[in-house]
Amino acid sequence: MTGPASDGGLAVAERLRHVPLFQQLSESELERVARVAREKNYPRHSVILFEDDPGDALYVVLRGQVKVVLVGEEGREVILSILKEGDFFGEMALIDDQPRSAHVIATEESHLIVLKRDDFRQCLEESPRIALGLLKALSRRLRRADDKIGGLVLLDVNGRVARLLLEMADEHDGRRIPRKVTHHMIAQMIGSSRETVSRTMREFAGQGLVEVSRQSIALKDRGRLEQISGL
Ligand code: CMP
Repeated sequence: MTGPASDGGLAVAERLRHVPLFQQLSESELERVARVAREKNYPRHSVILFEDDPGDALYVVLRGQVKVVLVGEEGREVILSILKEGDFFGEMALIDDQPRSAHVIATEESHLIVLKRDDFRQCLEESPRIALGLLKALSRRLRRADDKIGGLVLLDVNGRVARLLLEMADEHDGRRIPRKVTHHMIAQMIGSSRETVSRTMREFAGQGLVEVSRQSIALKDRGRLEQISGL
C-alpha cells in the first residue's frame, strides 16, 4: 500500500511525534511534515533500497524492522545496522547527493513513512530542529560505528558477541532483546560465522550469562558480559 496517509494528516502527525527525529517539532511543523508524508508497507525480505541507486526519499520505520547491509562479491552479507520503530534511513544520499550507501531490506513486515527528497529538503530548511535532530542521530550512528570498528580490532568473538548483546538490550530495558535475532544475523553483524556465534551463545547460556527462548534473549549477568566485552 502506498499513498497519502490513510487516516488523515493529523493521525500521521500523532505517529510522527513518537519518532525521535521529529520530537522537538512544534505542532505546526509536525503537521507540515505529516501533510507531505506517505505511508508504505513492505513485506518481510523485500528490498527497500538498493546500494548505488540514486536517492529519492527518506524513510522512517513506524512498525517492523529493517537491516542495513553491504553485499560482497559472493553474496556474503555484512549487516551494518538493524533499525526498528522510530529509526530513519535513506538520509545520506539526500544530504550528500551520492548514490545509496547500502541496501536496506525488511527483516519483518514493515510499515514505513516515506518523505520525498524535495519535501525532506524543504522540511530541513524550514525547521532547524529537524536538522538538529538529524545531526544528533548521525552522531549516535558514528559513535556506534566507532565502537564497532574498535570491537572488530580489539575483541575476540566472545567479546564482540557480548558487546552486541549489551548494545541491543540497551535499546530496550537493558535486560532483554525482545526481537528474534538469529545467530546468522549476529554473525553478519560482527564479522564471524554462524557456527562460531552458536558455540559462543551455547557457552554464554551454559555459564548462566544469557537465557535464550524462541522470541527473545534475556541477559542474566550484565556485569560479566560487560567484563567480556571490555566495557
Ligand atoms: P543512504 O545512503 O541514502 O541509503 C542507505 C542508508 O542506510 C543510508 O542512507 C543510511 O540511512 C543507512 N545507513 C548506512 N550506514 C549505516 C550505519 N552504519 N548505521 C545505520 N544506518 C546506516
